Amino acid sequence: MMELERVSGLQGFTWFLLFGFTVSLSLGTFWESTFQKVTTHSNFQMRSLNLSWTNEDLMGCATHCLKLKDSCYSFTYDVKTTVCVLGSWLLPADTSTSVATGDVYYTGAFCNTDANFTLLTFGNTTYCLYFALDKFNYTSASQACLARHSHLYTLKEPVKLDVLKTFLVNTNDSWVGLDDRAEEGVFRWLDDKTLLTSEMKSFLFTGVQPDNAGDKEDCVQYDTYRYPLNDRDCSYTSPFVCEVTPLTGL
Ligand SMILES: *[C@@H]1O[C@H](CO)[C@@H](O)[C@H](O)[C@H]1NC(C)=O
Ligand SMILES: *[C@@H]1O[C@H](CO)[C@@H](O)[C@H](O)[C@H]1NC(C)=O
Ligand SMILES: *[C@@H]1O[C@H](CO)[C@@H](O)[C@H](O)[C@H]1NC(C)=O
Ligand SMILES: *[C@@H]1O[C@H](CO)[C@@H](O)[C@H](O)[C@H]1NC(C)=O
Ligand SMILES: *[C@@H]1O[C@H](CO)[C@@H](O)[C@H](O)[C@H]1NC(C)=O
Repeated sequence: MMELERVSGLQGFTWFLLFGFTVSLSLGTFWESTFQKVTTHSNFQMRSLNLSWTNEDLMGCATHCLKLKDSCYSFTYDVKTTVCVLGSWLLPADTSTSVATGDVYYTGAFCNTDANFTLLTFGNTTYCLYFALDKFNYTSASQACLARHSHLYTLKEPVKLDVLKTFLVNTNDSWVGLDDRAEEGVFRWLDDKTLLTSEMKSFLFTGVQPDNAGDKEDCVQYDTYRYPLNDRDCSYTSPFVCEVTPLTGL
């Protein structure tokens, strides 16, 4: 598991981002109010933007990143060498590539409220979601999310169902990012291709679903009639839900 630690001693910066959190400045709306430090960063690697400075302090490095808010979501800062390196999203670590020296910090994902995304708080967690009412097939819906730097919504934890139940109000069906297109009966989440666990499968589907009706239902919808989820022909067109997640960005 990755452990996170709040950056301390960045009051000015925190306050500034808190402003961004509640007020839509030209900098946009940030998900988190502070940069976070990844204390066990062997699980993640930083995708470098090939921009670096020396003789910066932590605050200066964070400010460089903030100024590039459309591309900078992370940075490494080495207290010994004072080298500051900017990066984009963090990636699950590839064991062949090590993280640059220094501590890794990341900021919350950029939630583009100008592109109809909304920050919604449910329980302790804030989600950045876009409830698209345009009717697209599964592939086009996924592409529409990607074009907005997001992915089709996933429900890897039970609470994500409550989030949909609470906030998805203007439609009875919406694509989510789950399908068994690659192998019949083997459902994978579209964002990271992880398997739908058997626990989550029995939680998310009820009755006969997923039934692969007509042998052509490989994509999954949130469906209030066959609540919660239902498999459907991927060429069917319906609304969809896009989601931005922190760390990986997509
Ligand atoms: C950064 O530089 C490396 C090595 O030259 C290159 O492989 C990588 O594509 C560059 N990354 C970006 C975002 O330009
Ligand atoms: C946001 O939603 C409004 C109303 O549905 C629509 O007119 C507008 O084009 C949408 N903007 C984007 C960037 O999708
Ligand atoms: C979520 O919030 C509740 C109530 O405020 C708190 O007791 C709990 O520890 C929090 N959980 C996490 C994971 O932060
Ligand atoms: C969803 O289904 C309910 C029950 O049939 C119906 O009353 C409601 O109008 C539907 N909503 C939409 C947006 O189609
Ligand atoms: C999805 O829609 C796109 C655009 O209309 C179309 O090109 C594509 O063939 C469709 N795919 C499926 C599986 O229906």
